[in-house]
Amino acid sequence: MSILDIKKLTASVDGKEILHGIDLKINPGEVHAIMGPNGSGKSTLSYVLSGRMGYEITGGDVLLNGESIMELEADERARSGLFLAFQYPVELPGVSGMSFLRASVNSRLRERGEEEVDQLSFVKIVRAESKKLGISDDMLKRAVNVGFSGGEKKRYEILQMALLKPSMAILDETDSGLDVDALKIVSEGVNLLRHPDRSMLVITHYQRLLSHIIPDKVHILSEGRIIKSGDKSLALEVEENGYAGINDAA
Ligand SMILES: Nc1ncnc2c1ncn2[C@@H]1O[C@H](COP(=O)(O)OP(=O)(O)OP(=O)(O)O)[C@@H](O)[C@H]1O
Ligand SMILES: [Mg+2]
Repeated sequence: MSILDIKKLTASVDGKEILHGIDLKINPGEVHAIMGPNGSGKSTLSYVLSGRMGYEITGGDVLLNGESIMELEADERARSGLFLAFQYPVELPGVSGMSFLRASVNSRLRERGEEEVDQLSFVKIVRAESKKLGISDDMLKRAVNVGFSGGEKKRYEILQMALLKPSMAILDETDSGLDVDALKIVSEGVNLLRHPDRSMLVITHYQRLLSHIIPDKVHILSEGRIIKSGDKSLALEVEENGYAGINDAA
């Protein structure tokens, strides 16, 4: 059974149809990449999957671990194992990072019928994961994303993923704004989370990321449709020829 099964998905924002019928299946353990021109609907797809308000599904279905998530609210989707790392992570002034992280991890544990972690052990776990991602103690003490640099916000998204251990993770341009060293650190973090029970959908503009996180499949999204799918060589093709050649062929 696929972890994520998107069937003929159409979706609108403000009454305007942006996704015109997306079919995409991701099997357990697989990492898929989505590339595509600006405005082709990549972030819209990630928002629609995560259940963000204002993104209306007008047709088709989305199954997560075999069950439709169409009727679930965003928080219910998150608890059932879907995780989205935002293209533009939001600042949460006044919300302590540590409490935020612990609350999200505990609600996921409750959902699975597992015991919640106490504060002391949680701090230890967070410290260990943060270290791997080059996140300072100082950042952990601050409010969520407030005053973080662009690259720090991206690392913080991966920290959340590492703690939440989702079954389906969507990473929307996690590489944008990262310096070369941070790109390596973040990619290594992502690779460590590759697991036979976990799938990932990586949205990116650059082959660069995909040479660190090697995808099983690459899909090209254009004007709300997947116009081509292939293996990792498709990303190289895009880098060399741009989208024009692929558009023509499609
Ligand atoms: N609230 C909205 N009202 C009208 N159009 C919208 C709205 N939100 C998104 N769109 C349009 O939907 C299209 C897809 O946007 P989306 O952000 O999904 O693109 P993207 O593929 O993620 O692009 P990028 O590579 O620049 O991140 C764009 O044309 C955008 O203008
Ligand atoms: Mg986008």
